[in-house]
Amino acid sequence: MSEQNILKHVAIIMDGNGRWAKKKLLPRAAGHVAGVKAVQKAVEFAAENNISVLTLFALSIENYSGRPKEELSHLMSLIVKQLAKHVIALHEKNVKISFIGDHGNLSVKVRQEMDSAVSITADNTGLQLVFAINYSGLWDITNAAQRVAEKVSEGCLTVADITQEEMNKHISLSELPKLDLMIRTSGEMRLSNFLIWQSAYSELYFTETLWPDFDKNSFEQAITAF
Ligand code: IPE
Ligand code: IPE
Ligand code: MG
Repeated sequence: MSEQNILKHVAIIMDGNGRWAKKKLLPRAAGHVAGVKAVQKAVEFAAENNISVLTLFALSIENYSGRPKEELSHLMSLIVKQLAKHVIALHEKNVKISFIGDHGNLSVKVRQEMDSAVSITADNTGLQLVFAINYSGLWDITNAAQRVAEKVSEGCLTVADITQEEMNKHISLSELPKLDLMIRTSGEMRLSNFLIWQSAYSELYFTETLWPDFDKNSFEQAITAF
Protein backbone atom coordinates (compact mmCIF):
# COMPACT_ATOMS: atom_id res chain seq x y z
CA MET A 1 0.00 0.00 0.00
CA SER A 2 1.33 3.43 -0.88
CA GLU A 3 2.29 6.17 1.56
CA GLN A 4 -0.38 8.54 0.27
CA ASN A 5 -3.15 6.07 1.05
CA ILE A 6 -5.91 7.96 2.78
CA LEU A 7 -7.15 5.08 4.91
CA LYS A 8 -6.50 6.16 8.48
CA HIS A 9 -8.88 4.37 10.81
CA VAL A 10 -10.05 0.77 10.52
CA ALA A 11 -12.32 -1.03 12.97
CA ILE A 12 -12.88 -4.78 13.05
CA ILE A 13 -15.72 -6.85 14.47
CA MET A 14 -13.69 -10.00 15.13
CA ASP A 15 -16.41 -12.63 14.80
CA GLY A 16 -16.40 -16.38 14.26
CA ASN A 17 -14.06 -17.83 16.89
CA GLY A 18 -16.74 -20.25 18.08
CA ARG A 19 -17.59 -21.47 14.56
CA TRP A 20 -13.89 -21.88 13.75
CA ALA A 21 -13.49 -24.13 16.80
CA LYS A 22 -16.67 -26.06 16.03
CA LYS A 23 -15.47 -26.82 12.50
CA LYS A 24 -12.32 -28.29 14.00
CA LEU A 25 -14.24 -30.16 16.72
CA LEU A 26 -12.47 -28.07 19.36
CA PRO A 27 -13.92 -26.28 22.40
CA ARG A 28 -14.91 -22.60 21.90
CA ALA A 29 -12.00 -21.58 24.12
CA ALA A 30 -9.59 -22.91 21.46
CA GLY A 31 -11.29 -20.59 18.97
CA HIS A 32 -10.59 -17.58 21.20
CA VAL A 33 -6.95 -18.64 21.59
CA ALA A 34 -6.66 -18.88 17.80
CA GLY A 35 -8.39 -15.50 17.56
CA VAL A 36 -5.58 -13.92 19.58
CA LYS A 37 -3.08 -14.96 16.89
CA ALA A 38 -5.24 -13.24 14.29
CA VAL A 39 -5.18 -10.09 16.45
CA GLN A 40 -1.37 -10.13 16.37
CA LYS A 41 -1.38 -10.43 12.57
CA ALA A 42 -3.91 -7.62 12.17
CA VAL A 43 -1.87 -5.33 14.43
CA GLU A 44 1.32 -6.09 12.49
CA PHE A 45 -0.46 -5.46 9.20
CA ALA A 46 -1.87 -2.14 10.39
CA ALA A 47 1.54 -0.99 11.64
CA GLU A 48 3.29 -2.07 8.43
CA ASN A 49 0.74 -0.29 6.25
CA ASN A 50 0.69 3.09 8.00
CA ILE A 51 -2.85 2.75 9.26
CA SER A 52 -3.14 5.34 12.06
CA VAL A 53 -5.83 3.71 14.18
CA LEU A 54 -6.99 0.10 14.53
CA THR A 55 -10.05 -0.38 16.74
CA LEU A 56 -10.87 -3.97 17.66
CA PHE A 57 -14.17 -5.19 19.11
CA ALA A 58 -13.02 -7.65 21.77
CA LEU A 59 -16.11 -7.87 23.96
CA SER A 60 -19.55 -6.28 23.76
CA ILE A 61 -21.74 -5.33 26.71
CA GLU A 62 -24.19 -7.96 25.39
CA ASN A 63 -21.39 -10.57 25.44
CA TYR A 64 -20.52 -9.59 28.99
CA SER A 65 -24.03 -10.17 30.24
CA GLY A 66 -25.02 -12.92 27.83
CA ARG A 67 -22.20 -15.46 27.58
CA PRO A 68 -21.66 -18.37 29.97
CA LYS A 69 -19.53 -17.51 33.01
CA GLU A 70 -16.77 -19.99 32.08
CA GLU A 71 -16.41 -18.54 28.57
CA LEU A 72 -16.28 -15.01 29.95
CA SER A 73 -13.67 -15.79 32.58
CA HIS A 74 -11.57 -17.56 29.92
CA LEU A 75 -11.89 -14.51 27.64
CA MET A 76 -10.97 -12.16 30.48
CA SER A 77 -7.94 -14.17 31.52
CA LEU A 78 -6.86 -14.35 27.86
CA ILE A 79 -7.06 -10.56 27.65
CA VAL A 80 -5.04 -10.09 30.86
CA LYS A 81 -2.37 -12.64 29.89
CA GLN A 82 -2.01 -11.40 26.32
CA LEU A 83 -1.71 -7.78 27.40
CA ALA A 84 0.94 -8.67 29.96
CA LYS A 85 2.77 -10.78 27.40
CA HIS A 86 2.77 -8.36 24.46
CA VAL A 87 2.72 -4.85 25.90
CA ILE A 88 6.50 -4.41 25.92
CA ALA A 89 6.90 -5.67 22.33
CA LEU A 90 4.09 -3.34 21.23
CA HIS A 91 5.72 -0.49 23.12
CA GLU A 92 9.00 -1.16 21.29
CA LYS A 93 7.06 -0.94 18.01
CA ASN A 94 5.82 2.52 19.08
CA VAL A 95 2.19 1.30 19.36
CA LYS A 96 -0.10 3.36 21.59
CA ILE A 97 -2.74 1.25 23.35
CA SER A 98 -6.11 2.46 24.62
CA PHE A 99 -9.50 1.03 25.57
CA ILE A 100 -13.09 2.09 25.10
CA GLY A 101 -16.17 0.76 26.87
CA ASP A 102 -17.85 0.61 30.25
CA HIS A 103 -15.08 -0.70 32.47
CA GLY A 104 -16.67 -0.20 35.90
CA ASN A 105 -17.67 -3.83 36.33
CA LEU A 106 -14.48 -5.44 35.00
CA SER A 107 -12.29 -7.14 37.60
CA VAL A 108 -9.55 -5.14 39.32
CA LYS A 109 -6.94 -7.39 37.71
CA VAL A 110 -8.22 -6.74 34.20
CA ARG A 111 -8.39 -2.99 34.84
CA GLN A 112 -4.88 -2.91 36.29
CA GLU A 113 -3.50 -4.67 33.21
CA MET A 114 -5.40 -2.24 30.97
CA ASP A 115 -4.17 0.82 32.90
CA SER A 116 -0.61 -0.41 32.78
CA ALA A 117 -0.74 -0.98 28.98
CA VAL A 118 -2.14 2.54 28.55
CA SER A 119 0.48 4.22 30.73
CA ILE A 120 3.46 2.27 29.33
CA THR A 121 2.53 3.21 25.75
CA ALA A 122 1.04 6.67 26.43
CA ASP A 123 3.75 8.69 24.66
CA ASN A 124 4.06 6.47 21.59
CA THR A 125 3.44 8.04 18.21
CA GLY A 126 2.92 5.00 15.93
CA LEU A 127 -0.19 2.88 15.43
CA GLN A 128 -3.01 3.66 17.86
CA LEU A 129 -4.48 0.35 18.93
CA VAL A 130 -7.88 0.61 20.57
CA PHE A 131 -9.59 -2.35 22.21
CA ALA A 132 -13.34 -2.13 22.75
CA ILE A 133 -14.01 -4.10 25.92
CA ASN A 134 -17.47 -4.24 27.44
CA TYR A 135 -18.37 -1.68 24.80
CA SER A 136 -21.59 -1.00 22.93
CA GLY A 137 -22.47 1.82 20.57
CA LEU A 138 -25.82 2.54 22.21
CA TRP A 139 -24.07 2.71 25.60
CA ASP A 140 -21.55 5.15 24.07
CA ILE A 141 -24.27 7.47 22.75
CA THR A 142 -26.27 7.25 25.99
CA ASN A 143 -23.15 7.99 28.01
CA ALA A 144 -22.47 11.05 25.83
CA ALA A 145 -26.07 12.22 26.37
CA GLN A 146 -25.56 11.94 30.14
CA ARG A 147 -22.34 13.99 29.99
CA VAL A 148 -24.09 16.67 27.94
CA ALA A 149 -27.07 16.67 30.32
CA GLU A 150 -24.66 17.21 33.23
CA LYS A 151 -23.27 20.29 31.51
CA VAL A 152 -26.80 21.60 30.95
CA SER A 153 -27.77 21.03 34.57
CA GLU A 154 -24.60 22.77 35.74
CA GLY A 155 -25.58 25.73 33.57
CA CYS A 156 -22.52 25.41 31.28
CA LEU A 157 -24.70 24.68 28.22
CA THR A 158 -28.21 25.52 27.02
CA VAL A 159 -30.46 23.03 25.23
CA ALA A 160 -29.80 24.89 21.98
CA ASP A 161 -26.07 24.23 22.47
CA ILE A 162 -26.66 20.46 22.10
CA THR A 163 -25.37 20.10 18.58
CA GLN A 164 -23.84 17.07 16.85
CA GLU A 165 -20.44 18.64 17.49
CA GLU A 166 -21.17 18.95 21.21
CA MET A 167 -22.41 15.34 21.42
CA ASN A 168 -19.42 14.16 19.41
CA LYS A 169 -17.02 15.61 21.99
CA HIS A 170 -18.28 13.00 24.47
CA ILE A 171 -18.36 10.02 22.08
CA SER A 172 -15.52 7.47 22.21
CA LEU A 173 -12.72 7.95 19.64
CA SER A 174 -13.80 11.48 18.68
CA GLU A 175 -10.22 12.68 19.32
CA LEU A 176 -8.93 10.25 16.66
CA PRO A 177 -9.21 10.32 12.86
CA LYS A 178 -12.75 9.46 11.73
CA LEU A 179 -13.59 5.82 11.09
CA ASP A 180 -12.95 5.02 7.41
CA LEU A 181 -13.58 1.31 7.21
CA MET A 182 -15.44 -1.23 9.32
CA ILE A 183 -14.66 -4.90 8.72
CA ARG A 184 -16.74 -7.80 10.03
CA THR A 185 -15.59 -11.38 9.68
CA SER A 186 -17.55 -14.64 9.52
CA GLY A 187 -20.43 -13.67 7.29
CA GLU A 188 -22.86 -11.83 9.58
CA MET A 189 -23.96 -8.56 7.99
CA ARG A 190 -24.71 -6.46 11.04
CA LEU A 191 -22.88 -4.08 13.34
CA SER A 192 -23.93 -5.80 16.60
CA ASN A 193 -23.99 -2.48 18.45
CA PHE A 194 -20.35 -1.60 17.69
CA LEU A 195 -19.38 1.94 16.64
CA ILE A 196 -22.90 3.08 15.76
CA TRP A 197 -22.26 6.85 15.91
CA GLN A 198 -18.74 6.65 14.50
CA SER A 199 -19.73 4.55 11.47
CA ALA A 200 -22.33 7.00 10.13
CA TYR A 201 -20.20 7.50 7.00
CA SER A 202 -17.79 4.58 7.12
CA GLU A 203 -17.38 2.00 4.40
CA LEU A 204 -18.49 -1.47 5.48
CA TYR A 205 -16.70 -4.66 4.47
CA PHE A 206 -18.03 -8.12 5.24
CA THR A 207 -16.14 -11.34 4.68
CA GLU A 208 -17.07 -14.99 5.18
CA THR A 209 -13.60 -15.64 6.61
CA LEU A 210 -13.79 -16.69 10.27
CA TRP A 211 -11.74 -14.42 12.56
CA PRO A 212 -8.98 -16.96 13.41
CA ASP A 213 -8.39 -17.43 9.65
CA PHE A 214 -8.21 -13.66 8.97
CA ASP A 215 -4.58 -13.07 7.97
CA LYS A 216 -2.56 -10.30 6.34
CA ASN A 217 -3.88 -11.30 2.88
CA SER A 218 -7.45 -11.02 4.11
CA PHE A 219 -6.70 -7.57 5.58
CA GLU A 220 -5.08 -6.51 2.31
CA GLN A 221 -8.22 -7.60 0.39
CA ALA A 222 -10.41 -5.57 2.71
CA ILE A 223 -8.43 -2.38 2.27
CA THR A 224 -8.13 -2.93 -1.47
CA ALA A 225 -11.94 -3.05 -1.61
CA PHE A 226 -11.90 0.30 0.21
C1 IPE B 1 -16.06 -13.58 18.40
O1 IPE B 1 -16.32 -14.92 18.16
C2 IPE B 1 -15.28 -13.39 19.65
C3 IPE B 1 -15.98 -12.66 20.71
C4 IPE B 1 -17.21 -12.24 20.66
C5 IPE B 1 -15.24 -12.42 21.92
P1 IPE B 1 -17.62 -15.61 18.68
O2 IPE B 1 -17.37 -16.18 20.03
O3 IPE B 1 -18.77 -14.68 18.59
O4 IPE B 1 -17.77 -16.78 17.62
P2 IPE B 1 -19.09 -17.32 16.93
O5 IPE B 1 -19.86 -16.16 16.43
O6 IPE B 1 -19.82 -18.10 17.97
O7 IPE B 1 -18.58 -18.18 15.81
C1 IPE C 1 -19.96 -9.12 18.16
O1 IPE C 1 -19.99 -10.48 17.94
C2 IPE C 1 -19.08 -8.79 19.31
C3 IPE C 1 -17.64 -9.02 19.13
C4 IPE C 1 -17.05 -9.42 18.04
C5 IPE C 1 -16.86 -8.72 20.27
P1 IPE C 1 -21.17 -11.39 18.50
O2 IPE C 1 -20.90 -12.77 18.00
O3 IPE C 1 -21.31 -11.23 19.94
O4 IPE C 1 -22.43 -10.75 17.78
P2 IPE C 1 -23.87 -11.33 17.53
O5 IPE C 1 -24.35 -11.81 18.87
O6 IPE C 1 -23.71 -12.45 16.56
O7 IPE C 1 -24.63 -10.18 16.97
MG1 MG D 1 -20.18 -14.31 17.18
